[in-house]
Amino acid sequence: MIDRLLKRPLEVVETNFRRPTGRAGTLVGHLMARQHRTLTVWAAEHMDVRRSQRVLDIGCGSGMAVELLSRRASSGFVAGVDYSPEMVRQSVRRNVDGIARGRVEIKEGDAGNLPYPDSSFDQVSAIETFYFWPDPMRGLAEAYRVLRPGGQVAITLEMSREAAEQPSPIQRYFGRRFTERSEREGLRILSGADLVEMLTKAGFEDGRFVSEPRRSLGWVCALARK
Ligand SMILES: C[S@@+](CC[C@H](N)C(=O)[O-])C[C@H]1O[C@@H](n2cnc3c(N)ncnc32)[C@H](O)[C@@H]1O
Repeated sequence: MIDRLLKRPLEVVETNFRRPTGRAGTLVGHLMARQHRTLTVWAAEHMDVRRSQRVLDIGCGSGMAVELLSRRASSGFVAGVDYSPEMVRQSVRRNVDGIARGRVEIKEGDAGNLPYPDSSFDQVSAIETFYFWPDPMRGLAEAYRVLRPGGQVAITLEMSREAAEQPSPIQRYFGRRFTERSEREGLRILSGADLVEMLTKAGFEDGRFVSEPRRSLGWVCALARK
């Protein structure tokens, strides 16, 4: 019974996590901003963003990471790219002050074809978006292209093979359902080692990952340098 009641709302949420569209997308954008706050803070802690650096957040959603990273790169520049016009609008609203000061820019664009020249960033992040990219290796090649030599990439996911072997009851019920549904819909659930392997294949060096298996569905952040 509860399964049937949850089916339709879950489908709407899942579709809009992938590509927020229309009113439901706008609502899911606000929801994501709340849900991903602690994940975003955790991901940013692992990136050594300095004051004057240039940072790009791919799949920026409602612009929370852009806002946070622009406080860290306080005399630098932070860009956000997302292929959803709704998310671009939300991100612009959230970062209106940074944009007015010329320190933030939000663009509509695809992870597979980033609207920036070669070697234009010191840091590239992608939070809770990587598994939606239709060609993830193409996205990593683009991240590599726009990073300057020595620059750092950080790919963060809240659902991974790093999930706790002994999950909480909530993780067990919702987590397993969500993970299984996601896989049925073609999402590949990755481990930290998978992410590092993909980063290495894309040409990155010094790949490593950190994880928090008991958070959500297995937080993981994979980092590497160009
Ligand atoms: C689950 S949301 C996460 C948003 C944000 N990073 C956060 O943590 O709140 C996934 C975002 O990735 C964006 N996205 C998915 N695939 C993309 C692609 N190929 N290019 C650009 N953006 C993409 C979606 O539009 C959506 O805003």
